[in-house]
Amino acid sequence: MNADGRKRLNRTPEWTALAKHREDLGEVRLRELFAADPGRGSGHTLQVGDLYVDHSKHLVTDETLRLLRELAAATDVFGLRDAMFRGEKINTTENRAVLHTALRAPRDAVVEVDGENVVPAVHAVLDKMAGFAERVRSGAWTGHTGKRIKNVVNIGIGGSDLGPAMAYEVLRAYTDRELTVRFVSNVDGADLHEATRDLDPAETLFIVASKTFTTIETITNATSAREWLLTELKAGQDAVARHFVALSTNSEKVSEFGIDPDNMFEFWDWVGGRYSYDSAIGLSLMIAIGPDRFREMLDGFRIVDEHFRTAPAEANVPLLLGLLGVWYGNFFDAQSHAVLPYSHYLSKFTAYLQQLDMESNGKSVDRDGEPVDWQTGPVVWGTPGTNGQHAYYQLIHQGTKLIPADFIGFARPVDELSDELKAQHDLLMANFFAQTQALAFGKTPEEVRAEGVPEELVPHKTFKGNHPTTTILARELTPSVLGQLIALYEHKVFVQGAIWNIDSFDQWGVELGKVLARRVEPALTEGAEVPGLDASTKALVSTYRELRGR
Ligand code: F6P
Repeated sequence: MNADGRKRLNRTPEWTALAKHREDLGEVRLRELFAADPGRGSGHTLQVGDLYVDHSKHLVTDETLRLLRELAAATDVFGLRDAMFRGEKINTTENRAVLHTALRAPRDAVVEVDGENVVPAVHAVLDKMAGFAERVRSGAWTGHTGKRIKNVVNIGIGGSDLGPAMAYEVLRAYTDRELTVRFVSNVDGADLHEATRDLDPAETLFIVASKTFTTIETITNATSAREWLLTELKAGQDAVARHFVALSTNSEKVSEFGIDPDNMFEFWDWVGGRYSYDSAIGLSLMIAIGPDRFREMLDGFRIVDEHFRTAPAEANVPLLLGLLGVWYGNFFDAQSHAVLPYSHYLSKFTAYLQQLDMESNGKSVDRDGEPVDWQTGPVVWGTPGTNGQHAYYQLIHQGTKLIPADFIGFARPVDELSDELKAQHDLLMANFFAQTQALAFGKTPEEVRAEGVPEELVPHKTFKGNHPTTTILARELTPSVLGQLIALYEHKVFVQGAIWNIDSFDQWGVELGKVLARRVEPALTEGAEVPGLDASTKALVSTYRELRGR
């Protein structure tokens, strides 16, 4: 038993019942499930906001779903959810509240952290962002030489990059096409070089996005960007104020860097980095799409927040998606989860989800620090669908691994496309539907033979099917729909972390590499002796120095 009296997850009766149910199901076949229930295709669907969620093609019966919901009840997922929404410090290893939901709360909401309502501060920052975004968009905000800002470069990494970079791509059709917006994250100087080489510094605004304002990659890139700007403009430090703004929780470090505190957009330690792009971290996005569209996106988030908070278990979509992940990871030993959008605009969507999911649930001790003996977060991967079809779908269809997948698509192409390009949309979506069909139902040896295929090729042309997929379909890709999708995955990740009894909101696993990099760097630059360096790293460092000509 844990300190709070919670039994070890895999010894609870609900877990044991699921394990037994899994055994009883044996080789459950989707073909059989559909044959037994002609209404399954429309019956196993849920709606949240604009998202139509089809979960019929899963290796589950009604009994499976009932048992999974019992596991959620036994692990008090909804209790932890309510504690999160109330602002309790459920991130126990950092002693922090987890309140990304407050970032999209309406103005009149009350959400308290340590007895203080945080909603007015959230809206004050949103208003400040809106004012600034409008000034940049209208040309009222000019650079040091008086030129209008035409380029915006966001410098940040992880949660201070992936969210706005992803959302900018997703909402490109809503952006001001006169503005060039770029994202620099990698400490490889090539990233900043390529992002700035064709820009006029006099027309460029840098947004330095860092929750802590101590992240080495970001501060290094921001320092180089400042150097580039001042050198190119032949200007003094006073030029910084017109070309650099900061998004951070750390005003002291921001001032130290030379950014005017008036040009800092604040957020708070109760916003996790990977849950932050709807905070001040979204400033680059807001400049690109405008404050009204940004607010529409926040409304979308809120729709799913409210659904997650209030919908009963049977209709609760984030709960369902979380439970399905638990089903495959813990009872089928699936190792990964593919997210396959059929929209080119979602090309960075899965990369964003990688941090959201893998940094949140890549944990191997429970909330009490006890090692878990059940699988936690999956490897999340994927790229836009049709490209994937010509790359790795082969393995999903005929490989030896079970890879549950989410297919995300839209009924309408974006308005901006020409009629000819809009016409391609049906072909795109035909591929989408064909793939989920092929994955689910496959092609039997008998069907292959009936086509006259020679016997020796029959095994090669057989598709065993039974690959589970969720389909998420919306009418069109709008800012609100993007918000809905992100909140859906945020809460799915939450559900899984709650069941696995892990802290989904810390990220200690990224610390060791950071510390070691700081130790090794002087060995690379100066050949300094690093005490206690292992033999392999030592040899690599010396080979590197040789190749580098040092
Ligand atoms: O990768 C670790 C991490 O702390 C992420 O959680 C975070 O999003 C990223 O680094 C960037 O941190 P910061 O916003 O403080 O620069």
